[in-house]
Amino acid sequence: MSGILVAIDGPAASGKSTTARSVAVRLGYCHLNSGLLYRSIAWCSLRDGWIDAPGRFGPELERLDLTLERRDREFLVLVNGEAAGRGLLTAPETARRASRVAAMPEVRNRVLHVLRVTGEEGGVTCDGRDIGTVVFPAAELKIFLVASAHERARRRILEHGGDPAGPAFYEEVRSLEERDLRDANRSLAPMVPAADAIQIDTTELSPDEVVDRIVALALERGAEPVDESPDFA
Ligand code: DC
Repeated sequence: MSGILVAIDGPAASGKSTTARSVAVRLGYCHLNSGLLYRSIAWCSLRDGWIDAPGRFGPELERLDLTLERRDREFLVLVNGEAAGRGLLTAPETARRASRVAAMPEVRNRVLHVLRVTGEEGGVTCDGRDIGTVVFPAAELKIFLVASAHERARRRILEHGGDPAGPAFYEEVRSLEERDLRDANRSLAPMVPAADAIQIDTTELSPDEVVDRIVALALERGAEPVDESPDFA
């Protein structure tokens, strides 16, 4: 598949994956969600009981068959041929553990390889924490999305059908800030904007406004949209 590479990085719940998916649909590209790879490794290692087993983690990871399968405008992560359900991948425990396994060099190397092999042909929007800095440093367009922790907590609670005015709000803010700190301060591939990334603060923007901006930038950088989706604008 030809086309440019759009890298979208940013903290947890900043709207990266929803945005990356919508941009992919608008451009006729495919969305590569790198967080799902870390989440899938966390899910599988939790389920099979080797996440906290230092002696077993390395060999089990090496044995793990980690592949991406293209489905319409996105990639499905398969672990030993099996895809975890969405609910399992988005569960709070999986998210917390994913942030921890993502700090491990052997995990990052594995994911880096899978992402590069899949994305190098272009025509991909890839979202994560280190996409513009480490995974695809030559991406034609790099975006760094930010939003206040309160706004991100509000969105996340709504996404899960909860009440942002309820007691879970401050716990969500705390949990997001804890993950941001860990992702930004780890020594390996920390979450930082690439020097040539364009930062977009989405706190006061609607999802459509964010997508419109990125699509306009992608067209400026040489993307040629393929008009094959029904909601192509
Ligand atoms: O984007 P997400 O919330 O699904 O990511 C899950 C975890 O994986 C997150 O805590 C940070 C980590 N991650 C990473 O370190 N690098 C990436 N490129 C993507 C995700």
